[in-house]
Amino acid sequence: MNQFRKNPLLWLVVLGAIVLYTQLQGGPSSITDSHDVTTTVSASAAIGGPFALIDQDGKPVTDESFRGKYMLIYFGYSFCPDVCPTELLIMSQALDRLGEASKDVVPIFITVDPKRDTPEKLKGYVGHFGDRLIGLSGSEEAIGKAARAYRVYYRIPPAKDGAPPTEDYTVDHTSFIYLMGPDGKYLTHFVKGQDPEHIAEAIRKYLKPA
Ligand code: NI
Repeated sequence: MNQFRKNPLLWLVVLGAIVLYTQLQGGPSSITDSHDVTTTVSASAAIGGPFALIDQDGKPVTDESFRGKYMLIYFGYSFCPDVCPTELLIMSQALDRLGEASKDVVPIFITVDPKRDTPEKLKGYVGHFGDRLIGLSGSEEAIGKAARAYRVYYRIPPAKDGAPPTEDYTVDHTSFIYLMGPDGKYLTHFVKGQDPEHIAEAIRKYLKPA
């Protein structure tokens, strides 16, 4: 004990060792699909923008297709083993809690993995999260443009040495739920793992009084 009092640096060394140990215990799964990639979201005016994608019925849609509605947008991919389905479930539960008011909110899932997430694939996938979720795919270029507009980071692992791309890969990506206003402008976002009740309450504050 006296050692620590005399030498406060010792505390730092001990703390550092604990942190390092905890990280090492995280295991490979936390590295391959972290969902913990952080981006600076303080420049709120810069989040969001035009997109031109294809919905799960093969119909072209743009951001303007949803004008007059609030958009609740999540970027991810349907092969994601854990975080994406959890977040989409939270979105759907938040809308349930909004009740009647949720009619003005459109939940949208935009894939960052369009090679595997074709509109047909997304049609089956979005059905797991209620009957309102819209699934958007598109060309890699169109997806890249949408992701950049929303400051979404994602990384598809490159195919190895000209080998055909394997079906079995994970995609690192940021995990935020964005709330956009009826004019398409950014209102707020929710980080991973929020309580659906909290999200519902936050959305309620932005909705126009009936
Ligand atoms: Ni994911």
